[in-house]
Amino acid sequence: ELGQYRHFMQKEIFEQPQALGNTLEMLSGAGCLQPGIFGADAAGVLTDVDSVLILACGTSSYAGNTARYWIEQLAGLPCNVEIASEYRYRVSVANPRQLVVVISQSGETADTLAALHHAKSLGHRHTLAICNVPESAIVRETSLRFITRAGPEIGVASTKAFTTQLSALFLLTLLLAKGNGRLTDARSDDGLDASQEQDFLAELRHLPVAVEKVLALEPEIEAWAQRFADKQHALFLGRGRHYPIAQEGALKLKEISYIHAEAYPAGELKHGPLALVDAEMPVVVIAPNDELLEKLKANMQEVSARGGELFVFADGCSKVAESEGINILRLPEHYGLLSPVLHVVAQQLLAYHVALVKGTDVDKPRNLAKSVTVE
Ligand code: F6R
Repeated sequence: ELGQYRHFMQKEIFEQPQALGNTLEMLSGAGCLQPGIFGADAAGVLTDVDSVLILACGTSSYAGNTARYWIEQLAGLPCNVEIASEYRYRVSVANPRQLVVVISQSGETADTLAALHHAKSLGHRHTLAICNVPESAIVRETSLRFITRAGPEIGVASTKAFTTQLSALFLLTLLLAKGNGRLTDARSDDGLDASQEQDFLAELRHLPVAVEKVLALEPEIEAWAQRFADKQHALFLGRGRHYPIAQEGALKLKEISYIHAEAYPAGELKHGPLALVDAEMPVVVIAPNDELLEKLKANMQEVSARGGELFVFADGCSKVAESEGINILRLPEHYGLLSPVLHVVAQQLLAYHVALVKGTDVDKPRNLAKSVTVE
């Protein structure tokens, strides 16, 4: 079953172009996006919603954190993301026009299912499941659904489920943007127009090829991994829509290599974590060439000045230069709003190769289960 791969995690990382292609299959030949991909009732619901609440656990919650940036920016709707196990036990204020999105690879996570029950008991009517298992418990209980077509995920650490969740969430964002009148025929200053929709659909269609190019960086990432294996701690920094990718990079590293890793939005560095930085603490930075790069460079400078070693994931056009203590790896394409999908693949490869060097049980990390059906 493993074919040319050493572990399911590696196989599943490399299956991502296919998984994305399958999940986005409806786009081939489609002129524009139809709400029906989220279920028969989606057209009415997506024009009625006035805000979004995303509920999930672990990696799936980081997909939600990424989507929050997309939904507020493109669809202009307020979006909150809450950890399912917190939401279910908290007194919260329900809004019946809010779209509740539950994200789960397995569709069986006890806390996510209970959070969905809780939302419904509070009067939420608009519920959407983004799941990888069509006959799962969560899918049976929502009014709308989108099934990612990642195929079975065997490795405990989630990889291809995450990137396909992101692709589904981007489709949702575009439909919400349309439903909110942000997608019209005429160009407007702040809204999405029809040609923008075409541009985004073209980017989505190209995503499998773009991911393929990131996978080709495996040898360089493997070389970096050697330098993490003897470390006790690592810090992951990102900003904006790449902060959730820093969170996911840190989670991947800690769960399979057992290295303590923490993610921070880079602007928070001097509010605390900078005190930890020394030569023994590698600092991973997600640094695509976006509107926040200059800010991020200032944060990198703060790390360098304290003797911290930087491992920077940039892209072709990021103006950051290699020097003593600053290692740079360039992702081949700069991918705008969808860039998190590419950057997370590099993070998965880094965690995988650090774990290989350490000799841990990559597919079955200690103390963890694939599907968490108890709270
Ligand atoms: C991390 C990981 C977990 C899951 C979490 C939710 O690699 O796999 O954090 O993401 O347990 O699982 P699902 O998505 O099945 O609800």
